[in-house]
Amino acid sequence: MRTEQPKMIYLKDYQAPDYLIDETHLTFELFDDHTLVHAQLVMRRNPAAGSGLSDARMPPLVLDGQQLELLSVALDDRELSAGDYQLSDSHLTLQPTAASFVIDSSVRIHPESNTALEGLYKSSGMFCTQCEAEGFRKITYYLDRPDVMSKFTTTLSAEQHSYPVLLSNGNPIASGSEEGGRHWATWEDPFMKPAYLFALVAGDLWCVEDSFTTMSSREVALRIYVEPENIDKCQHAMDSLKKSMTWDEEVYGREYDLDIFMIVAVNDFNMGAMENKGLNIFNSSCVLARAETATDAAHQRVEAVVAHEYFHNWSGNRVTCRDWFQLSLKEGFTVFRDSQFSADMNSATVKRIEDVAYLRTHQFAEDAGPMAHPVRPESFMEISNFYTLTVYEKGSEVVRMIRTLVGDAGFRQGSDLYFERHDGQAVTCDDFIKAMEDANGVDLSQFKRWYSQGGTPRLVVSEAYDAAAKTYSLTFRQSCPATPGQRDKQPFVIPVELGLLGAQGQALPLRLVGEAAAGATSRVISITETEQLVTFVDVAEQP
Ligand code: SER
Ligand code: ZN
Repeated sequence: MRTEQPKMIYLKDYQAPDYLIDETHLTFELFDDHTLVHAQLVMRRNPAAGSGLSDARMPPLVLDGQQLELLSVALDDRELSAGDYQLSDSHLTLQPTAASFVIDSSVRIHPESNTALEGLYKSSGMFCTQCEAEGFRKITYYLDRPDVMSKFTTTLSAEQHSYPVLLSNGNPIASGSEEGGRHWATWEDPFMKPAYLFALVAGDLWCVEDSFTTMSSREVALRIYVEPENIDKCQHAMDSLKKSMTWDEEVYGREYDLDIFMIVAVNDFNMGAMENKGLNIFNSSCVLARAETATDAAHQRVEAVVAHEYFHNWSGNRVTCRDWFQLSLKEGFTVFRDSQFSADMNSATVKRIEDVAYLRTHQFAEDAGPMAHPVRPESFMEISNFYTLTVYEKGSEVVRMIRTLVGDAGFRQGSDLYFERHDGQAVTCDDFIKAMEDANGVDLSQFKRWYSQGGTPRLVVSEAYDAAAKTYSLTFRQSCPATPGQRDKQPFVIPVELGLLGAQGQALPLRLVGEAAAGATSRVISITETEQLVTFVDVAEQP
């Protein structure tokens, strides 16, 4: 087998995939010492691919796959032999001969000895998965990239006594028993999704069950699965889930779409949680909370993480990322959404102070160090290193600034347009901005520098009051330190919301030079230049 060296990947090199996978049919046979994975991929040439080859000659099909033992592969029911394909430690390459075809493959994998917590692994006696960002390639040969979206059907079989619960994405459509004490279940996910949103769980789990009626009166079953000893610690997560579902309907007009929504608590999990379609998998610490033993902060964390993962169903799953450079498209927006939710559920002021303190302490440090990178990085070797405070927290603040610029109503119109335009698609941060621009008739081209330039800008303000002329001037100067690979920065668009107070603490009317009459006592000024003078007139006293 050939060994491939990891290489740098650049945003500017993005190319649409040569092939699409319309349907993905997976069968998992789970055993204690190995797992067999059979994958049937219904594929076709991507009409939008730009490989430049004439239709007569099909480009090679390069499937991703790592740490897989290939047992068999067939193209349109024809079993391939070793000479028919090339195998390296990261790819399986073969040559399709028609524009539509079916690939069947079988591989053996070892979740029982997978300690990387990526792909399919075992945690406390249960099987579970983590596929974001590139874990699915450790499960089967596939086009493991987010712009390849497919309809998944998944069948799992396992020994019934140790693994009574068998879960995957979507809705359950069939189940039964097999000889030898085994059983099986089939799940079908009607929504197109990239492989990173695939999930599977098998184990001895108990569940807390509830239901939710959506805004169009559809009944959704809600289940939280935990190990039996934790069954008394799920109520807060369930309450948080129902609040999140209501809030997303009311504030963003977003309704849940499957018949069932599940959360599974797992003890060994690298991230807080994962938004797999219909089957969120959580680190136990982000699910379990009981009033007698958990602090207020722990309760709020559970509420926030449950909300975050639930909100991804629209901002991430229904509309997903074209490539991993766009990670902040779903993460920045979803962190912003969960922070709005937490603000609405608790104290908005406290939440804002917490978020800003966290950003200043941790993200500013990242932005000032050797790892500093833009919200949308331009290159990476290993995407798992880019699940950063910059992509998440600064990404959220960038979305917040858009809302500050276009206002609450304009922001909602922009997000409605974004979801309507791109439902079922894998898109870019530019598409998000475009929807905000089109819905509001504004030009955000300079604003987009927030996505491409790293570093924490510094804004220095100086004031001057002219008592005789009754003018009050503010001079804003912005600068941004050099960051790795970026020496000179162009000025950002920095929205500054401000008001002026008189000696008695009263809000003073704000009238900019050149304006006919005073407007509101609080307004948003856009700082777009390196140095910008803002002058208010008719200011009766020194603010
Ligand atoms: N996509 C996951 C999340 O942010 C990874 O942690 O919710
Ligand atoms: Zn997220």
